[in-house]
Amino acid sequence: MGRFYVTTPIYYVNDVPHLGTAYTTIIADALRRYHLLAGDETFMLTGTDEHGQKIEEVAREQGLDPKTFCDRISTRFREAWPKLDVAYDRFIRTTDDDHEAFVKELWKKIEEKGDLYEADYEDWYCVGCESYKTEKELEQPGNLCPLHKRPVERVKERTYFFRLSKWEKPLLEFYERHPHFIQPETRRNEVLSFVRSGLRDLSCSRTSFTWGIPVPSNPKHVMYVWFDALANYRSALGHGDLTRFWPPSGRVVHLVGKDILRFHAVYWPAFLLAAGYREEELPDVVYAHGFLTIDGQKMSKSLRNAVDPLRLAQELGPDVLRYHLLRAVAFGQDGDFDHAALLERYNADLGKNIGNLLSRVLGLCTKMTDGKHPDDDPSTDGPVEAELGEAYRSCVAAARTAWEDLAPHVALEQTFKLSSAANAYVDRAAPWTEAKNGNTARVAKILSRLLRVLEALSVMIWPAMPKKSDEMRAQLGLSPVHPGLGVDVWPVEMPQVRAGLALAPSGPLFPTFDDKAQAKLLEKLVPPKEPAPSAAPAAPAPLAPEAAAAATSPMIGYDDFARIDLRVGLVKTCEKVPKKDKLLRLTVDVGEPEPRIIVAGLALTFAPEQLVGRKVVVVANLAPREFGKGLVSHGMLLATGPSEKLILATVDGDAAPGSRLK
Ligand code: MSP
Repeated sequence: MGRFYVTTPIYYVNDVPHLGTAYTTIIADALRRYHLLAGDETFMLTGTDEHGQKIEEVAREQGLDPKTFCDRISTRFREAWPKLDVAYDRFIRTTDDDHEAFVKELWKKIEEKGDLYEADYEDWYCVGCESYKTEKELEQPGNLCPLHKRPVERVKERTYFFRLSKWEKPLLEFYERHPHFIQPETRRNEVLSFVRSGLRDLSCSRTSFTWGIPVPSNPKHVMYVWFDALANYRSALGHGDLTRFWPPSGRVVHLVGKDILRFHAVYWPAFLLAAGYREEELPDVVYAHGFLTIDGQKMSKSLRNAVDPLRLAQELGPDVLRYHLLRAVAFGQDGDFDHAALLERYNADLGKNIGNLLSRVLGLCTKMTDGKHPDDDPSTDGPVEAELGEAYRSCVAAARTAWEDLAPHVALEQTFKLSSAANAYVDRAAPWTEAKNGNTARVAKILSRLLRVLEALSVMIWPAMPKKSDEMRAQLGLSPVHPGLGVDVWPVEMPQVRAGLALAPSGPLFPTFDDKAQAKLLEKLVPPKEPAPSAAPAAPAPLAPEAAAAATSPMIGYDDFARIDLRVGLVKTCEKVPKKDKLLRLTVDVGEPEPRIIVAGLALTFAPEQLVGRKVVVVANLAPREFGKGLVSHGMLLATGPSEKLILATVDGDAAPGSRLK
């Protein structure tokens, strides 16, 4: 029996669960379930990352103290995952007392060993990533974070540095000795070249805000949010019995998105080594997966294209969503999410393959074996049985290896390959012909063999589709999969003959959707198309009067509205854009260190000097739009009316630039 400890990243509470975060969480749960089947003792950890400047700012914008704000959003994560059939063992919050105590201890240990020291610091910082950026990494113009496409901040303060540079060589040696620590291989190479290019000491505390864990020896400082967050993986186990899940007595697999690999593969082991952990007490695997995209864009709050996994689970059942996420994207790669592809895969793999196999076999048994599992004598097997047996052995073994190797898409591909082989076997063995010829022993053999394969399939789909596995087993007259510690129930051998056991068919396991039903479902599921960020109008798109008077848009909830970052902007400068009749180039103060450049289609109505000094309404989180020749707009102004008679949305009174409109 092994011990398998799987973690998801802890999610920032500035967003609610979306399909991207559901993705990692579902995969972690599926891996946990596979290891349960293998008889391992398992522990799954997920939770929320609640400290830091970003969360403090969002809470303030919503007029809440950070803890109240975190309580609200954290609950949404905690309650979301069970609705997707995810059964975590602990949901950790970085505001939990035991976590905070652990992090302080970790800090003290590192400080005592001399790897934290105080000095002055100045660098660029992206609040979105909660990460320092080098000048080289920024996109120009505008010093933009390449991921968030928003200007970074210049941070200059007293800080505690973590002596990361000292760990460069030990880390490289560790990677060398543990080639599977960073996966997949391409990501490993990226990390290796990053570390080889030299590690700088890491600023590990902040003094310009207070929402964080205070540094024990100097509480004017709060710890860098990543120092606090990474420690969750170890703090969750405490000092007692659960430490058996930590290496060397347990195996730890951290699943992370590719954007946060560096923190996990470089900083995390360095913190642990610096605190005195031995090499064999470091995590076993950091696996970086790709991004789920919608129309090629990463799903996230700031891009406003997030798909709600709970809605999909409600409409289709959690298992269908789980299956699609596990199967459609090669784990490790990016993958585009597409509602239509989900329905197509549902019909093809679930409805027409495994679902059809079950209905067919149960239907035949109702007619030919009195609705019971028939008996079988293996010594009379023919070539078709031998062929099915070969497919069985190879698929079951390959699926097992794939689960072990963190390749759920391959595991499911092999599972469905077995189902296809069984469907082919029905056709070739043709029990209906044997029945016509009165060959009852052969009929019994064929149907018994198929029922045994179906039983194996019901176990093999359990990590991905636990509820459907239960339903399938009920139809086969079996109780749900019941893993036990130290008992390996992976169906390496074909399950036993269950002669005489009554079957209980109860309709299609995966009723297929015809074209009409599919179209109807898509209409319901696909959110109304928002303009793709790259094409979003950076200038106000003047509404035709008839459009303005048209019926109001579909209702949205407060959460949707809250995704739009509307801010008061003060126009600092304004000029015409050469050779563009309609465009003005403005610089607008939206409360950030530098004014933003915004390009707006206002020139047919306003002379540039009419706008300087006005307080306008800025859509601040619209993705930048290029106008050619290096001209990029970082936001949009609101206005109404035809191009040559625009009325600009402005703000009266003394609202400060950057104030949020809500
Ligand atoms: N709080 C940190 C993690 C700390 S772990 C010690 C964080 N949080 S996050 O909420 O911004 O992101 C959490 C994870 O979700 C990351 O692994 C990120 O890659 C992943 N994803 C966010 N959007 C995603 C997609 N669209 N697709 C796949 N994963 C995505 O970073």
